[in-house]
Amino acid sequence: MSAPLLALRALDKRFGQRVLFADMTLELEAGSGYVLTGSNGSGKTTLLRMAAGLEPAQRGEIGFRSQSAALAAYPEAWRREIVYVHQQPYLFHTTIADNLEYGLKRRGMPAAESAERAREALAWAGLDNRRDVPPQKLSGGEKQRVALARARTLNPTLLLLDEPTANLDGDARKQVLELVTSLCIENHTVVVASHDPEIIRLAILTRLHIREGRIEAND
Ligand SMILES: Nc1ncnc2c1ncn2[C@@H]1O[C@H](COP(=O)(O)OP(=O)(O)O)[C@@H](O)[C@H]1O
Ligand SMILES: [Mg+2]
Repeated sequence: MSAPLLALRALDKRFGQRVLFADMTLELEAGSGYVLTGSNGSGKTTLLRMAAGLEPAQRGEIGFRSQSAALAAYPEAWRREIVYVHQQPYLFHTTIADNLEYGLKRRGMPAAESAERAREALAWAGLDNRRDVPPQKLSGGEKQRVALARARTLNPTLLLLDEPTANLDGDARKQVLELVTSLCIENHTVVVASHDPEIIRLAILTRLHIREGRIEAND
């Protein structure tokens, strides 16, 4: 069997007295899609944030590609490759196009190329006509679509989506579902934390379930 793309090992995570994970192991295969389920408060968000280096743990090792490190010494370089999308994405108070170009320019991409990449991603998300709108004027569904488009421009090796359809219904939910499906079909490795029955039902996703601080794989 080939080495996993990402592995968390011997991971302990507590908030005060509350034990979220105890000696937990998680392995993700390159090119695979996963849906992460678990009751409210079971630790889905915390798990994704730890994988992205955004949340400390009491103990744990993380492996990515052929390297490994203590979770407490999360390598900076991995942050470019492992991208976490918040359930309620934060957008800068400028235009949507700027929101997409910002991360690309920070990575050293020339302005013209960043603009082109942002344009392509906004078209992908069906937001061509919203590019100059300030984010505070967007609906919840549109904000989530901007966040997915922004994550896509970064071309992550591992994409972590936190309840992308939560708080959405009707057409807004459907549009986000389509984008999530499209991201999972593309060649990324994707983990989607979700309760959404339609996401759980996606045949291309392997189900990971948090139970009593451990990850069970049941597909
Ligand atoms: N920063 C924090 N400080 C204290 N407790 C936290 C913090 N973040 C999360 N928790 C607690 O950890 C548990 C898991 O939270 P979370 O990872 O958000 O679960 P989920 O995403 O599955 O709903 C919850 O009981 C939550 O209250
Ligand atoms: Mg959560």
